[in-house]
Formats: sequence, structure tokens, C-alpha cells
Amino acid sequence: MKISIVGTGYVGLVTGTCFADTGVNVTCVDIDEKKISNLKKGIVPIYEPGLETMIKNNVDKGRLHFTTNLKESLDQAEVIFIAVGTPPGEDGSADLSHVLAVAREVGKNINHSIVVVTKSTVPIGTAEKVRAAVKGEIEARGVDVPFNVASNPEFLKEGNAIDDFLKPDRIVVGTDSEEAEKVIRRLYKPFLLNNHPILFMDIPSAELTKYAANSMLATKISFMNDIANLCELVGADVNMVRKGIGSDSRIGNKFIYPGIGYGGSCFPKDVKAIIRTANTYNYPLRLLQAVEHINEDQKRIIAAKVKNYFQNEVKGKTFSVWGLSFKPHTDDMREAPAIIIIRELLEAGAKIKAYDPIAMDEAKKEFNNDIEYGQDPYDVLIDSDGLLLLTEWPEFRIPNYNVMKKLMTTKVVFDGRNIYDMHEMNENGFDYMGIGRAS
Ligand code: UGA
Repeated sequence: MKISIVGTGYVGLVTGTCFADTGVNVTCVDIDEKKISNLKKGIVPIYEPGLETMIKNNVDKGRLHFTTNLKESLDQAEVIFIAVGTPPGEDGSADLSHVLAVAREVGKNINHSIVVVTKSTVPIGTAEKVRAAVKGEIEARGVDVPFNVASNPEFLKEGNAIDDFLKPDRIVVGTDSEEAEKVIRRLYKPFLLNNHPILFMDIPSAELTKYAANSMLATKISFMNDIANLCELVGADVNMVRKGIGSDSRIGNKFIYPGIGYGGSCFPKDVKAIIRTANTYNYPLRLLQAVEHINEDQKRIIAAKVKNYFQNEVKGKTFSVWGLSFKPHTDDMREAPAIIIIRELLEAGAKIKAYDPIAMDEAKKEFNNDIEYGQDPYDVLIDSDGLLLLTEWPEFRIPNYNVMKKLMTTKVVFDGRNIYDMHEMNENGFDYMGIGRAS
């Protein structure tokens, strides 16, 4: 079987590589020549654990190819996945120009039956626009080439993308033709072992499923953040409350960790997008509007705790930050709460020294020289007036208290992810402030 995947972002690359691993002949296409020539040399543009080795292996086996030539990639391809970016346009809505440009290119060049699948997260109704774009170009050529469209949203988590792809909770496919269903079922067959289900449905339902899933997850997080803030007021410990409610199987114990707000390229964008879609039908999604507000406020909570601890005297103080990316195991800084927190403290006149195991290059694009960067976690603690733990990388979990005490001027820890034991911190001579726990 031969397929083409357009867009070598993290969705396209992970999808292409995982299909190639099952023996499918995959061509990944991108207009960025530098990216493609790097990928041919084994240089991967994103950090995703395990991906580089897997790409190299499949390239060596001759199953994974990279090209800038979309037309060439269509040769004998049974399926083409569109996995290009949909950046927010000026008004915040997804810019579909790249998706539709690919669709038109397919229409201009296709001479055999193919299934055109949207994999990028796109607004409801996009698959129909893709169909119209392909059809328009085929008709303009005065020929008749049969094709089908489908929507196959992805549910990968950055940092765990390969495992998520290989062992999916479910695969969702929206289609309106038996032919497309047959081809897609065959393609995904290797991933359906051990009862991983593939759910076929109509196209709008598949498109909406993606937004509903991310919005539900964002809702869980904002709910817990709201409860955490209440815990502080009433003297409860959100860790206990989390365990107490999470052991009810109807609620579940996953994704109910309070923190400094959700970030990343998906939740913030998708919650906004579904609110916008609903507004166009004059149906305001009141719950999700609240989810968004809570999240915006939550990103400011740590900076507020710092200011409060120092009675608003943070000017000239130096704070150390452990972790910058929006979550561990990624260098992604998009919508990272660290950005808001650090900016607020800088604006209040503080100095910031930060360390992140992977994301410092990305962080430099955001902060330039507004902050200092350390070589390792302890480097940034020298003369520090407080440590802010903002991303729960494993290497921060068991810190050396003696070294910390020697280096820090003010022994206080603001734990944005609740990874430390409050009593252990206090016993070791640190003031400690977490999220949703009386301090
Ligand atoms: C998310 C979804 O989890 C994926 O299923 C989806 O495919 C993806 O978006 C997407 O649409 O492409 P991702 O953005 O990579 O994946 O990251 P998550 O692991 O979901 O974390 C998102 C944010 O929520 C992070 O800032 C994280 O720190 C925060 N979070 C997560 C919490 O604050 N508490 C939790 O309990 C869980």
C-alpha cells in the first residue's frame, strides 16, 4: 500500500513514520525545502521521544520518503493525508489556506481514485470544502477522476505521540463512502489489535469529536483548578480531594491535576475555536467560556503568590525558574504558562534565571535576553530569592535540598505542579507554596 502525507509537523511526521513502520510505503511532503533536505539526512525538526530513531529506521528500510513534490507523491497513492498547519488568522479563526491549497494541488494532479483525508484539526465543514476544492480542479481539467474525502482527527499528545499512535484509545474516521471506509480500515488494521477500536461516523461528527474531546479535557483541568483555589480558602488539600473524587470510576483519576493552567498548541486554540463555531449558530457555549476564563486567571496565580509572599516588593529580586515548556518531554513553548508568569515578574522589576532540559532554545525565541539561562537546575539557584517550579520534568522531582539551601538567599519554593511534598519541604527549611494546598 502506498500513501502520501502532506505536512511534516509533528502530526504529519508521527503519522507517516508510524504507518511506514507497518510496512506501508509512505511519502511525506512539505513545501519547506530545508526541512525536507534535513529530514532526508535524518535531522528531525521537532523533539519527540523515539521519533528520530524510528524515522531513520524506516528511511533505511526504504519505506519512508521525503519530498517537496506533491504531484510525485500522488503516484499510486491510495490515500493522501492533509496534515498541514491551520494557524489562527487575524480574527482568531483557523486559516485553511494551506489545507485548501493542498486539496487544489491534488485536484490538479490526480489521475486515479484516491481518498483525501483531513488530519489537521480543522473547523467543522472543512472536509466539504476540501471536496469542493479537489472537485473544482478536476472539473477544470475537463476529466472525470473519482475520489472520496474523509476526516480522521488525531488525538496524539506531544511527548507521548508515538505510543499514542501505536496504542490508540480509539481511531475516529468520518466518511460517507464504503470505499473510503474500506481503505482506511485496512491502513489502520495493524493498530487495532488488543481491541483498540476504530469508529466510523459521518463527517461532521468526526470533525466535532476532535473539538469536543479537547474541550472536555480542558474542562476537567479548569474545574480542578477552580476547586484547588477553593481548597486554599477553606484549608483543604486538593491532592486529597483529587484522590477522593478520582477513585469514583465515573469521574476517573486522569487529567484532574491542578496546576498553572493548560497551555500548548491544542487546548487553548481548540476551546477558542469551538466557542467561535457555536457563536456562529447563536449558541454561546457558556461552560467553555468559563473554562477559558478560569484558565487565563490560573496562569497568573503563581506570580500572584510570589508577589503576595514578598508583600509586593519583588523589584530587584531574582527568581529561579525550573521548567519552561508547556509540559514535560517537549520543547514546545506555545501558550506555555511560564511565558505569562515570567513576563509578569519581569514587569514587576524582578530578574529571572531559568533552566529547562529541552526548551531553552525555544524559550530564547520568546524572551531573547530578557532573562538569564542556566546550565543546570542548580546553576539558576545562585543568589535566588525563590524557586518557581513551572514544568514537572522528571529531573526536578528529587532535588538536593542541601545544595539548594546553600545557593538560595531566600528559601522559598512556589510549586506550580504540586510535585513536592509540603512537609518534606518545610522539614528541610523551605517555605513552600503549591496549588490548592494550605501553606
Ligand atoms: C492534547 C490532548 O491531550 C491530545 O489528546 C490531543 O491530540 C492534542 O492536545 C491535540 O489536539 O493535538 P497536548 O496539548 O500535547 O495534547 O498536551 P496534554 O498532555 O493534553 O496537556 C495539555 C495541558 O494541560 C498542559 O499544559 C498540561 O500541563 C495541562 N494539564 C494536563 C494539567 O494542567 N492537568 C492535567 O491533569 C493534565
